[in-house]
Amino acid sequence: MDETLAGVEEPLRTTRSADLARRVVTNLRQVMHAPDETLELAVLCLFSEGHLIIEDLPGVGKTTLAKALARSVDLSFSRIQFTPDLLPSDVTGVNVFNQRSHEFEFRPGPVFANVLLVDEINRTSPKTQAALLECMQEGQVTIDGVSYQLAPPFMVMATQNPIEYEGTYPLPEAQLDRFTMRIAIGYPPLAAEVQMLTEQTTTMPLESLTPVASTQEVLAAIADARRVYVEDSVQRYVVALLRQTRGDGRLHLGASPRAGINLLRVAKARALVAGRDYIVPDDVKTVAPAVLAHRLILAPEARSAGLSDADLVRDVVEHTPVPV
Ligand SMILES: Nc1ncnc2c1ncn2[C@@H]1O[C@H](COP(=O)(O)OP(=O)(O)O)[C@@H](O)[C@H]1O
Ligand SMILES: [Mg+2]
Repeated sequence: MDETLAGVEEPLRTTRSADLARRVVTNLRQVMHAPDETLELAVLCLFSEGHLIIEDLPGVGKTTLAKALARSVDLSFSRIQFTPDLLPSDVTGVNVFNQRSHEFEFRPGPVFANVLLVDEINRTSPKTQAALLECMQEGQVTIDGVSYQLAPPFMVMATQNPIEYEGTYPLPEAQLDRFTMRIAIGYPPLAAEVQMLTEQTTTMPLESLTPVASTQEVLAAIADARRVYVEDSVQRYVVALLRQTRGDGRLHLGASPRAGINLLRVAKARALVAGRDYIVPDDVKTVAPAVLAHRLILAPEARSAGLSDADLVRDVVEHTPVPV
């Protein structure tokens, strides 16, 4: 896949990716009232070739954030509202019989886009969810034995309400593990919420948002992020964090090797966006809650003690020695 990514032969120019990330975050800010760190995480997910899940209460701007990110980059975009009656072929596409040529031809589904917004992912059947997750995992779609590649970059942004509010078909952890990162938005501060009321009843900022990044620029950032230098000691630090979660009595399920790969990828993107061509342990620490928390299963006692999965990751990070 490397050959298809632009900028591979060029030297690692951290400033161009840092500038790009800043531009996108500034663009998102025009629409979204959310902490900069949250907006930056979404951009890191894009740069690390990841998939994003936005989980929060209804009406806090999940769909808006996903749409705003999609509009900020000049990439092909499609959106699927997940409903109980949706079929796998509504996501992937289907072979249809052409009366004139008397042959079946493939009609690609909405998954054939660079950025796919899956709204309310937990409202459709496990079968349709599985079809989507397979595309995410494989980077391709297989229909009747024929595989069709998805063009890079390919990013899924899924929204969902917290399970307690709405979880017709909550994603099992094995599937959540396919998502690189989970972020929440939260309620805005008072002044921001007041401003939002004005905006949403007058100017509709999302409508006027325009792209600030080309496909080539995004591909170059992805290629640069891959090339960020990682010292052995930092790799071992990542594994130490994973192992710490696996041995933690407060957890039923700890972090997988896949979680570790994602953690390192996102941390590399963070280093790049910070203008460095090498990773430091702080990159790992900062992104760890967003990358790890959704993959863990808390033991019932920990849950009833009021601990959240993100609290637990922060605690693990605090208690795992950093390499010097
Ligand atoms: N933090 C926020 N920043 C900007 N707009 C917001 C925010 N929270 C809610 N809104 C506005 O409220 C409405 C509902 O947002 P939406 O993105 O559809 O919520 P969700 O998908 O979380 O249910 C939209 O008009 C959106 O612009
Ligand atoms: Mg929504």
